[in-house]
Amino acid sequence: MVSVLIVYYTKSGNTKEMANMIAAYIRNENVDVEVRDVFDTTPEYLLEYDGIILGSPTYYGDMAAEMKELIDKSVKYHGELSGKLGGAFTSSAYIGGGNETTLLSILKAMLIHGMVVVGVHNADHYGPVAIGSPDERAEKQCRVYAKKFADTLKSLKGFDIVD
Ligand SMILES: Cc1cc2nc3c(=O)[nH]c(=O)nc-3n(C[C@H](O)[C@H](O)[C@H](O)COP(=O)(O)O)c2cc1C
Repeated sequence: MVSVLIVYYTKSGNTKEMANMIAAYIRNENVDVEVRDVFDTTPEYLLEYDGIILGSPTYYGDMAAEMKELIDKSVKYHGELSGKLGGAFTSSAYIGGGNETTLLSILKAMLIHGMVVVGVHNADHYGPVAIGSPDERAEKQCRVYAKKFADTLKSLKGFDIVD
């Protein structure tokens, strides 16, 4: 079975809600998923999973410092995350509030690790975005993203995709 780690940072709960939604939808695809608060996550955890999804609130158009700290600590394993599948999600206050630049900041770090990142052609392109607490639209984004992430991971690992 393929495995996914979802790490989130949250202050008021919105990003955690998204993490749990994405996790539930990925589990529906028969993928092993663990959800962790960034404060309970050391870089060693990143080594243990086939896929890694990081979620952060949008802070000034970027990921929160708490998530960046985990990424910076992961330099200890630079090269060892290469080939893993990566993804990102965020909650921001405003529609044009810098959520896409936040996602790109996370995906950029993943690319530097040599990871493969997931984009979506028919939904939020860089990863799910919620405005505040995830509403019906955001939940749909999480669902579409989870399926795309699970399918991509299975094909990367050579598993059959059953629709
Ligand atoms: C320090 C700080 C910076 C923020 N910067 C932005 C921003 O640039 N754009 C935006 O739309 N929202 C911004 N917000 C709002 C949060 O992204 C938003 O409230 C989000 O839903 C919080 O997620 P959480 O409940 O997971 O903590 C900021 C909030 C804080 C505390």
